[in-house]
Amino acid sequence: MIKDIARCSLGHFPTPLHTLPDHDALWVKRDDLAGFVWAGNKTRSLEFLMAEALGKGASCVVGGGVSTSNFIAALAVAASRLGLRCHLLVPAPVEATTSIRLARLVGAVVEEVPFSRDELDEAIGRRAAELDAQGHVAYPIARGGATATGALGFTAAAAELKEQLLAQGWSITDPCTVVIPVGSGASIAGLLAGTSLTETPFRVVGISVSRPPADVEWGITRLAGEVLARLGANPSRLASCDVEVIDRRRAPGPEDARQAAASLARQGLLVDDHYGLPTWLAAQGIVKEQHPVVVWQTGGLAGVPQLLAEVGQ
Ligand SMILES: Cc1ncc(COP(=O)(O)O)c(C=O)c1O
Repeated sequence: MIKDIARCSLGHFPTPLHTLPDHDALWVKRDDLAGFVWAGNKTRSLEFLMAEALGKGASCVVGGGVSTSNFIAALAVAASRLGLRCHLLVPAPVEATTSIRLARLVGAVVEEVPFSRDELDEAIGRRAAELDAQGHVAYPIARGGATATGALGFTAAAAELKEQLLAQGWSITDPCTVVIPVGSGASIAGLLAGTSLTETPFRVVGISVSRPPADVEWGITRLAGEVLARLGANPSRLASCDVEVIDRRRAPGPEDARQAAASLARQGLLVDDHYGLPTWLAAQGIVKEQHPVVVWQTGGLAGVPQLLAEVGQ
């Protein structure tokens, strides 16, 4: 059972669920309000990952990602809050982004490495082994927290959303589509595992912002299967999940971006250009066919100034 797995409290859950003034068929799941720096959805993963690190007696965590990664900054803050050292491997050249600045502010050691993003997970494992050899107890964390432990955060979130929707009068026999951005795939994998465990008939639509859908789908199924196995459930339960991953790696046109960002801002929502904007644009197409639609507002607040610089002239 997931409630028997150690979790440390970093954010504030459940995050709110509400409709928007302009879209009463559209629900927003406000992980941007998770309340742990701007970690948003990643707060959920970190609550399980950091608890596991502490449970293993770790003295430091080792993670990595590109300079703009929201996850690395959130990991650095979580480590510092829990008294652990944090080593972050960042592909060269390290840029002075908001994420890197925040990580350094809370004392993370940012190490510039000559590897591509795809080589980072192996490099993280090697660095953790070196630190162990020097007498530390290192807990390595894959990019984006994409491990079965990290995905547990969204397994719990599936039950959270189901309960909130039922409390708002949704009937389990009605169709409901959940639209969520996909990077490493940890969040959607956990969500699928949770959907199958709670027997909720969500149709899950993933908006892949950085990888081809075929690669993402394979990774998601593997990770969701690992989560179910870890919880003692049969991974074959995933066969009943209705999931689709849509390719949104290409940036939207400037006028579409401006209109969507302006409309959301009028309704009190700020989005970034990497995760939030493509997800909202895709959801607008889906809401015409399906009712209701939940958009998972995963956060990305650090990227908002960049979007405003592009569309706010
Ligand atoms: C704001 C935001 N939304 C969505 C995602 C994608 O989540 P995942 O990596 O679990 O697929 C990320 C990943 O860092 C993120 O920072």
